[in-house]
Amino acid sequence: MTEAPKAKTIETRLATAEDLPELEANETDKTKGLSASYLQQQEEGGYYVVVGLVDGKIGGRVILDTRDDDGTPLVPEMKLLWVFPSARRQGLGAAMTQHLEELARELGYEEVFLGVTPDNPAAIPMYVGLGYTPTGDHRSAINLSVIDGEGAGTDDPIEAIFRKSLLVR
Ligand SMILES: CC(C)(COP(=O)(O)OP(=O)(O)OC[C@H]1O[C@@H](n2cnc3c(N)ncnc32)[C@H](O)[C@@H]1OP(=O)(O)O)[C@@H](O)C(=O)NCCC(=O)NCCS
Repeated sequence: MTEAPKAKTIETRLATAEDLPELEANETDKTKGLSASYLQQQEEGGYYVVVGLVDGKIGGRVILDTRDDDGTPLVPEMKLLWVFPSARRQGLGAAMTQHLEELARELGYEEVFLGVTPDNPAAIPMYVGLGYTPTGDHRSAINLSVIDGEGAGTDDPIEAIFRKSLLVR
């Protein structure tokens, strides 16, 4: 009798300095050097790097930015969500987003915002499934360094702003 494949273990937690080599090993040409910058900003405060792990190996990251001096009026903002291509469609993006939401709740926030290019075929269904709705506002895209060919293909893309209330679970 063939045994059913074992379900993979998905975990999420805040990143630590020890995660840097693994994060760097998964950087792309577009994101080279950014992992160290994210961890440095986390050290400085108000900036949280959440990592997702599949069977103990990092498979992606997302950031909760609670600072109000980063040039955007969205506070707190979920940004730079990226699941490594080999780790997709296993629930990691959703799990990291939910971890980030719990963190925002613990920090006292009642809502979370994000910007997404309106033609992102993977992220939009995920956000909608998790309860995010468009606010109707837009901005010039600022997070395109994480989009690996799935985002908008134009030179001057815009992002739609989405929001989720953290008061309803
Ligand atoms: C968007 C992204 C983070 C999703 O991560 P993921 O771990 O693959 O997503 P999950 O496995 O948690 O999927 C959750 C749900 O999202 C939706 N979804 C995810 N990928 C999808 C795809 N390629 N097409 C359609 N729906 C998709 C599905 O509803 C899915 O639920 P299901 O698997 O039960 O059908 C990932 O594709 C990614 O890193 N993309 C490139 C970077 C990016 O676009 N980041 C967001 C910037 S705003």
